[in-house]
Amino acid sequence: MRFLILSDLHANFEALTAVLADAENKYDTVVCCGDLVGYNPDPSAIVEWCAGHCDHVVRGNHDKVVAGIDDLEWFNPVAQISAHWTTDQLSPEQLTYLRDLPRGPVLLEHFEFFHGTPFDEDEYVLSQKVAEQSLSALQMPLSFFGHTHVQGGFFRQHRRLGAIEAVQPEEREYAIQLEPDLLYMINPGSVGQPRDGDPRAAYALYDVEARLVTLHRVEYPIATTYRKLKSAGLPDALGLRLFNGQ
Ligand SMILES: [Fe+2]
Repeated sequence: MRFLILSDLHANFEALTAVLADAENKYDTVVCCGDLVGYNPDPSAIVEWCAGHCDHVVRGNHDKVVAGIDDLEWFNPVAQISAHWTTDQLSPEQLTYLRDLPRGPVLLEHFEFFHGTPFDEDEYVLSQKVAEQSLSALQMPLSFFGHTHVQGGFFRQHRRLGAIEAVQPEEREYAIQLEPDLLYMINPGSVGQPRDGDPRAAYALYDVEARLVTLHRVEYPIATTYRKLKSAGLPDALGLRLFNGQ
């Protein structure tokens, strides 16, 4: 069994298209760690694709706000503008799809996955302390998560915490050979709005039989997304950040 692991697509159609071309014929099942919408100009196309192709999805914080589950008060002004605009773009059926997405963690046969942490779908794993707490809360040895838009993650061997790095800028992939008795939390990175300094779209593949997770980066036509974002009337800052991956 081979999984395509996606997170934080954020309505970026060009980025998703590049990821799917890059990963073609390399997976059997699609898993999404949340944040299908928000920020970028193609929420309808991304929701339709996920509804038709993702086998397992958890909700992200943007999905909750756009679907009316959470209110906007924790969003910064730019994200609020984007959330209002996104809600207006989606059909009642698409909003229902977002509203019905499950809260993580979701446990599958070979791993679990969630948006933020195993104990709080909205919390960011950006510090060693939260990473330790999250690893202690895992119900399975392998997990995937998103929310931070930072590719990589953490592992724990006995009591030692280790970091998993993102794909290097000059590389296109990075392989993680899973070892027995270790705990893993792996972030595939963000498809649609990377924030780890690398503007390329990010994703991961997991081959269960080979016990191999590979992190990937792929270029996409950011200028096209930027033009669409501008003509939709979305804030310029949301487009500019795509170019530097911040
Ligand atoms: Fe996100």
